[in-house]
Amino acid sequence: MIKPVVVANWKMFKTPSESVEFVDRLKNKILDWERVKIILCAPYTSLFEMGNSLMGDGRIDLGAQNIHWESEGAFTGEISAAMLQACGVEWVIVGHSERRVLFGESDEDVCRKVMTAIEEGLSVIFCVGETIQERKAGKTSLVLGEQLGTLLAKLTEDQLRKLLIAYEPIWAIGTGLNATSEQIAETHHILRRIIEKTFPSAASQVAIQYGGSVNQGNCKELSEVSEVNGFLIGGASLDVDQFGEIVKTITEVKNR
Ligand code: 13P
Repeated sequence: MIKPVVVANWKMFKTPSESVEFVDRLKNKILDWERVKIILCAPYTSLFEMGNSLMGDGRIDLGAQNIHWESEGAFTGEISAAMLQACGVEWVIVGHSERRVLFGESDEDVCRKVMTAIEEGLSVIFCVGETIQERKAGKTSLVLGEQLGTLLAKLTEDQLRKLLIAYEPIWAIGTGLNATSEQIAETHHILRRIIEKTFPSAASQVAIQYGGSVNQGNCKELSEVSEVNGFLIGGASLDVDQFGEIVKTITEVKNR
C-alpha cells in the first residue's frame, strides 16, 4: 500500500510568525503520524523559521512552492535548490497550474525545474491538470499525457521515486467545486497508465494525489476513492484545525 500523503500548499498566504504558529499547533495534534506523510509547502519567507521549528521533529516535511532550474546566477527574484535545502526544505511543488497559467511556465520550463530539483536532492510534487474547456472537448487524457509524458521521458526509474504526482483539474482549484469521485478515479487511472507506459514495473509505487477544493466536508468521500493516494490542499490547508481533520480522515480511511 502507498502511504497516504497530505500536502498543504499555502500559496501567497502566511507570514513567518503565522507559519510557525501553525507548525506548533499541528505538532500538538493527536494524529496517527506513522501512517501518513505530511508536507507543508510555505512561502519562501517562512521556510527558514519553519525549518528551525521542525528540526529533529521528523513527522512533518517542509516544502517550497517553486524553484529555479539553474543552481545559481544572475536571476533576480529567483531561488535555488541549495537555498531551499539550507532552510530544511525536502520537497518542491513544480508545474502548478497557477505557475503555468499566470506566470507562463511551459512544459519545458517545468521539466527543467524538476530535473534540477531531483539532481540537487529534492523531491518533487508534480502538478498536472486540464482546463474545463479541455475536459468538455474530451481532451483530458491528451493534455495529461503531454504534461506528464514530456517529463517521464527524461527520468530514470530512480528519479521517478523522487516524484509525487498531483492531479489538479484547473476548474476545481479554489472554486469550491471539487471533481467527483468518478472523475477522479477515472483520471487517476489514466495517469497511472501514462506512467506504466514508461515505467511498467515502478508505476504502481508512485503516489497520485488529488487537489482542487478539498475540504473537511468532502475529504471522507474523496479518501474512499481507492485511486487517490493523498491530497494537495490550498484554501483548507490554511486553517490548522481543518487541515488536521483532513489528515485524520484520510489516515483512517486508507489504513482501514
Ligand atoms: P484549493 O484547495 O484552494 O482549491 O487549491 C488547490 C490547489 O491549488 C493546491 O495546490
